[in-house]
Amino acid sequence: MPEKEDKDLRKEARELFRKFYEKSKDIQRATSETVKEITEKTLKGVQPSAEKLKEITEGIVDGVQEATSKVGGRFEGVIKSLQEITTRAVESLREILTGAKEGIEEAGILEKSRECVKFIAERRSITYFDPKRDVPEEVLKEILEISATAPSGYNLQPWEVIVVKSREKKKRLVEICFNQRKVLDASAVVVIVANTNAGEEHVDRVLDSWIELGYITTRQRKKLRETILAGWKSPEKRKRKAIRDASFFAMNLMITARMFGLETHPMEGFDEAKLKRFLGIGKDRIVPLIVAIGYRDETKKLLPRAYRFTFDEFGRIV
Ligand SMILES: Cc1cc2nc3c(=O)[nH]c(=O)nc-3n(C[C@H](O)[C@H](O)[C@H](O)COP(=O)(O)O)c2cc1C
Repeated sequence: MPEKEDKDLRKEARELFRKFYEKSKDIQRATSETVKEITEKTLKGVQPSAEKLKEITEGIVDGVQEATSKVGGRFEGVIKSLQEITTRAVESLREILTGAKEGIEEAGILEKSRECVKFIAERRSITYFDPKRDVPEEVLKEILEISATAPSGYNLQPWEVIVVKSREKKKRLVEICFNQRKVLDASAVVVIVANTNAGEEHVDRVLDSWIELGYITTRQRKKLRETILAGWKSPEKRKRKAIRDASFFAMNLMITARMFGLETHPMEGFDEAKLKRFLGIGKDRIVPLIVAIGYRDETKKLLPRAYRFTFDEFGRIV
């Protein structure tokens, strides 16, 4: 088959698979329809050699499997159908299936980004939590570890958390939070701690990992260590760095919680001095905010989201 036609088929397959992924509810049915359509347009009665068949089957199916693993295990049907048509394949199928693989990959990326936007858009500060619904410790730990993938300057990760979960402790915490009822009703309250000593405390772990991963050589270590710590010299810089990065962590926490079907509420309404005394948080630590986490009380109405400034109001492109 001429090269131009091959490329067109690849483009077509890519489009078809992308659409199929986006629109289909019944994956199996759509798979077979889509594959049938492109197969009919392609095969045109040509018989491939056994050698060619083997090459195409192994190479292309591997590629599709790799793409599939990236978008989750939802494409077993696609792979199966692709395996079937490769056994009847001709050379141009390589192009078609490469297109299909690209379509699946693109659609997967699109879907993932749409999901992420959904979680961001869905997040609300929930005032009414269901006091009867618990979030297990393992789930909280998982959410917090995902949140810890947040970026931080030189990867120093200047955040710590204290998860207040026991009812007794929450009772005391409510008072410290000016009687904000959600503190008691939420399954847990995550106290976000910004560590203003993270430069000195974490730099060696960071450098070790960079050497281990081959980012830097042992010889570069000393100089880089000095550069990193220079940024942590003044009390003002320490404070800014620690609070900035801890806030990224907190935002990750709120979005990740949504992905787990949970709700959150960030709060700055608390007496920081009392909170630090209560939880034994040292002077070199700051608590920029706390985040209540749990299930929403479905019997209470959630008010519509309040006005957000538009880009034209808060931004400019220069
Ligand atoms: C750092 C921070 C501190 C906040 N502190 C409180 C608080 O102490 N009490 C409260 O009721 N809401 C608090 N909020 C929630 C905001 O009022 C809420 O995010 C805002 O009104 C927008 O509503 P939405 O999050 O539902 O979109 C806080 C939010 C942030 C980001």
